[in-house]
Amino acid sequence: MFLKNTSLLCLFFYIWSSEALEPIEDVSSSQNDENIPMMYVNESILQHQIASNILTKFLPNMSWESNEIVLDVGCGPGDVTKKRLYSEIQDQIEKLIAVDRNEEMIKFAKHSNEITKIEFKTMNIEDSISSSFYSNHFNKIFSFMCFHWVSDKPIALKNIYLMLKFGGEILMTFLTNNPFFQMYKILGPDFDEYVKKIMPEPVLFIPKEEMKSYFETAGFRVIEVYIHNKSIEYLEIKHFIDAVKSADSLYSNIPINLRERYFSIIKENFWNIPELTFCNETGKITYNYSTYVIHAIKEKL
Ligand SMILES: C[S@@+](CC[C@H](N)C(=O)[O-])C[C@H]1O[C@@H](n2cnc3c(N)ncnc32)[C@H](O)[C@@H]1O
Repeated sequence: MFLKNTSLLCLFFYIWSSEALEPIEDVSSSQNDENIPMMYVNESILQHQIASNILTKFLPNMSWESNEIVLDVGCGPGDVTKKRLYSEIQDQIEKLIAVDRNEEMIKFAKHSNEITKIEFKTMNIEDSISSSFYSNHFNKIFSFMCFHWVSDKPIALKNIYLMLKFGGEILMTFLTNNPFFQMYKILGPDFDEYVKKIMPEPVLFIPKEEMKSYFETAGFRVIEVYIHNKSIEYLEIKHFIDAVKSADSLYSNIPINLRERYFSIIKENFWNIPELTFCNETGKITYNYSTYVIHAIKEKL
């Protein structure tokens, strides 16, 4: 799978990443036939590792009954939901409901990952009306790599609190810094209407104590909160590009005819992201990331 000829990769990547005036062939699939949920599934090693690690660490510490009803917020194409979450908790649950605001992701998830005990639904966690249908409904709520996309965190947490049963627990992990948000600021007016849907307000880094207080203000008792620093290496450029495109909520939300222009702006600005480094000698792209991990409970009355 990995490129053997790293010098060729270096050269290609250098051209790709520098301010070249000539258009360069994009090695990812052509825009018209891009299947973003499928691309996400193929390039989500990082997300699988993150979910797997926190489930291994936290599931044994959670208190479980039989026939629990569980929610997964921001499930994307549902691969992590089924292969990581469901596979670990299937014996304890009656139902796992997995939601995402992106209809394309849910369509794909229903087709690829829906089974008797897993149900996928379109839902925006910032929407208090749809959340209210599930008042005091879930024994556990999980969320993997979604919350860094949520603009109004206090509202989303209020909704999550409302949907959880008393005595229920939440386990969430998400990036401390969403690297896309700083790039959205430089896109220009043609993209404003699309940016506003994804990022109505600029989202800044929230320090740990403040993040904890968001959860406490919503009503939770925080059992554990920490920041985890790690890195991932991409050895092949196609995989890196597809990982970026498929994880970028804006890319899937802009019309197909604007995607090429959009992505060329994004490509030019990657190297301003401090978390991303490119090694000229090895051709490796390293993404240094930090995630919040939060385990909290809605205390029994
Ligand atoms: C990086 S993907 C994570 C998918 C999956 N949980 C995983 O770990 O692979 C983030 C997902 O969160 C969804 N999302 C972002 N904001 C959301 C919101 N306010 N309500 C519901 N889903 C949201 C996006 O549509 C996207 O599919």
